[in-house]
Amino acid sequence: MPLVTTKEMFRKAYDGGYAVGAFNVNNMEIIQGITEAAKELNAPLILQVSSGARRYASHAYLIKLVEAALVETDLPIALHLDHGDTFELCKSCIDGGFTSVMIDGSHHSYEDNVKLTKQVVEYAHAHGVVVEAELGRLAGIEDAVNVSEEDASYTNPEQVVDFVGRTGCDSLAIAIGTSHGAYKFKPGQKPQLRFDILAEIEKKLPNFPIVLHGASSVIPEYVAMINQHGGNMPDAIGIPEEMLRQAARSAVCKINIDSDLRLAMTGTIRKYFSENPSHFDPRQYLGPARAAIKGMVAHKIKNVLGCDGKA
Ligand code: G3H
Ligand code: 13P
Ligand code: ZN
Repeated sequence: MPLVTTKEMFRKAYDGGYAVGAFNVNNMEIIQGITEAAKELNAPLILQVSSGARRYASHAYLIKLVEAALVETDLPIALHLDHGDTFELCKSCIDGGFTSVMIDGSHHSYEDNVKLTKQVVEYAHAHGVVVEAELGRLAGIEDAVNVSEEDASYTNPEQVVDFVGRTGCDSLAIAIGTSHGAYKFKPGQKPQLRFDILAEIEKKLPNFPIVLHGASSVIPEYVAMINQHGGNMPDAIGIPEEMLRQAARSAVCKINIDSDLRLAMTGTIRKYFSENPSHFDPRQYLGPARAAIKGMVAHKIKNVLGCDGKA
């Protein structure tokens, strides 16, 4: 099956009360681990590439790896640009075969965000590609851009109808208290999300797919594994799974996960080396890391996103 856009996936997810996982990919083992889990569970999938990932692995390698995954799985897979920050970057991904792009104008003023998003939407739609936009600003780190808690802001529900109407975007990432990275809440702080804001947005934008960034749970098992094997991560707190399940039942159709992939991979590799300090064949430690990613993604698909059997 060729790459698909997220249009049909989101319509089914909205109606079915589940969400599709959008997993960040940087190399072959990550792509294999994610896609093997989705294949076993017959789940639709979004593979997303940040500009940093594209610089690291190169566009050509990532496209070919994803093409290989399509052949191996025969699943509906969308290839998405995560946090595109310029028209030129979005255009380059659209021209290069991506089926979905995010234009993240959330760091700009409202009017500049509208203008930039509209420009990307016009080009994308003319090429059969869908666009995710962002309104509100998440805290955390993405591609070396560090948004402090003071600079983060919740999405204003009063703006969403105007924003979607004027830009023509196909889905909207909102800020309701999630954040990027492994340190989403302060030690001792109770994780909380503004489900009231989500409900208001859902009311104002019926049948419109909403996206949740910064949605890793920061799985404690992997943080512990890192720290038991020579790591020194401070207390890391993510989004509780029950909250993500609740979001997935609502208008949230896409849930972004990167940090949990990184933790699963790094924890597994650290454990491997502490147990096998003399080994040096990359297959010996990348194989278990790939298997850990597969297990973690399968857990998300079944127990958090609810998209198993929905391909
Ligand atoms: O939201 C950002 C993603 O976790 C991607 O991270 O920009 O370091 O590749 P990255
Ligand atoms: P996490 O850091 O919570 O995995 O969020 C990833 C993300 O939102 C990618 O866009
Ligand atoms: Zn993000």
